[in-house]
Amino acid sequence: PVLVVDFGAQYAQLIARRVREAQIYSEVVPHDTPVEEMLRRDPAAVVLSGGPASVYEEGAPEMDGTLFRSGVPVFGICYGFQVMTKALGGTVERTGTREFGRTELSVCAAGGTLHQELPGHHPVWMSHGDSVSKAPDGFRVIAETEDTPVAAFESPELGLAGVQYHPEVAHSPHGQGVLRRFLHEIAGIRPRWTTTSIVDETVAAIREQVGDARAICALSGGVDSAVAGALVNKAIGDRLTCVFVDHGLLRSGERTQVERDFVAATGARLVVIDAVQQFTDALAGVTDPEEKRKIIGREFIRTFEQAARDLQTEAGEAGERIEYLVQGTLYPDVVESGGGTGTANIKSHHNVGGLPEDLQFDLVEPLRALFKDEVRRVGSELGLPETIVQRQPFPGPGLAIRVIGEVTPERLATLRAADAIAREELTAAGLDHDIWQCPVVLLADVQSVGVQGDGRTYGYPVVLRPVSSEDAMTADWTRLPYEVLERVSTRITNEVSEVNRVTLDVTSKPPGTIEWE
Ligand code: XMP
Repeated sequence: PVLVVDFGAQYAQLIARRVREAQIYSEVVPHDTPVEEMLRRDPAAVVLSGGPASVYEEGAPEMDGTLFRSGVPVFGICYGFQVMTKALGGTVERTGTREFGRTELSVCAAGGTLHQELPGHHPVWMSHGDSVSKAPDGFRVIAETEDTPVAAFESPELGLAGVQYHPEVAHSPHGQGVLRRFLHEIAGIRPRWTTTSIVDETVAAIREQVGDARAICALSGGVDSAVAGALVNKAIGDRLTCVFVDHGLLRSGERTQVERDFVAATGARLVVIDAVQQFTDALAGVTDPEEKRKIIGREFIRTFEQAARDLQTEAGEAGERIEYLVQGTLYPDVVESGGGTGTANIKSHHNVGGLPEDLQFDLVEPLRALFKDEVRRVGSELGLPETIVQRQPFPGPGLAIRVIGEVTPERLATLRAADAIAREELTAAGLDHDIWQCPVVLLADVQSVGVQGDGRTYGYPVVLRPVSSEDAMTADWTRLPYEVLERVSTRITNEVSEVNRVTLDVTSKPPGTIEWE
């Protein structure tokens, strides 16, 4: 793999994704990983990420110089560029000028390998206080900016190079090309990480792990469980049983997507458990959001365990056992729970619909090495429909946490109808890629006066909550075009008779969370 050393900013995972976009497998490692341990993993190259520290601060993370003498190609980015400079005997200084944001890069006459064929001046994204004032011996300075004399250097002979700017962000339009030239030309790595190879390697790994045993997979309607299920199905066919618990809290059409479209695309064995009544009863009279989550989590586990037991009994009668449980764990979860940053804790309460660890199955986690965009591509490669593969995030507890107040079948039906209209119009307007998700929330305990048709009404408001985000940790409200808002509003108030007002949530996160509960 290419190892991306995380110096503590939010950029390491993004860099790892960019490396994979150059069709090379990458993994993130913490900066305190001993160099020996990195070398033991036989890296094709190492990329040092940016980070918030200053190399001259007390206790600032450094890099053991043996890495640069090991023969493994190394690329330094921002803080990583400075760490590399320092370790190799160049000079980093606090110049007093900070560069932040879009900056013009001037490529030096020769340009070097990294900036080959690029315009002599082009924009890059900068974010630094310290600057490299002298490159280490043996390195060619290949770019500068007005305030930074050494904005990039390289020594293709040594397989080492670095840039002060952030090539991984979209604000550096030529950044991906620079990273790719480092990986392909300076490090000489052959691009082999393609969607087809991911599918082939994953399927082979699943076959090897599961052998002749049987497996079970809980489908949620979301991308991850569907792609995980599809991969395992490709590997072991009908020795996999998928289980879908219909808790009545899904949006319009989602059960059909699993029951019909997923099965049509994969040919997987599917058992659908209709647990709508059970969840309705369990949620009756409950208004507290955390209480709702707990109840849904508990009922889900009960239902799934019962289904698993039933299947186990059936399999047992055929002289076999179900030994494996498929989980859709993604690579960012793996990085974050290993990184000990606390992020994993923040997310754990989101794992409603997750399963307890004492289920007596071994885990198969076919997506453990993958980023979300790779999961989507794998899904498409396996023939899953767009409706599943491009599905936006949807919370495990479903519409229950979007009915503010008690959850009843009538209220769910109202919300489901309004939500379907909003989704339809956003899709029709081509906005699905601009928004992260757009919860529609029913304020079921609020009624207001309206006029609909000929008469006075006393109906419910819904809230549209369109947000733009990279990772759901922070978000901004999306500036949807007025015409789209108007169509959504008109249609909802015309077509959903219980709703007489449509409002827009214009709060960023923080302070508001994305969901209302
Ligand atoms: P918040 O509301 O915390 O949401 O800003 C962040 C992201 O997480 C989703 N979300 C959940 N997902 N179970 C889930 O599986 C939950 O209980 C849950 N609550 C929020 C939310 O849709 C958004 O994408």
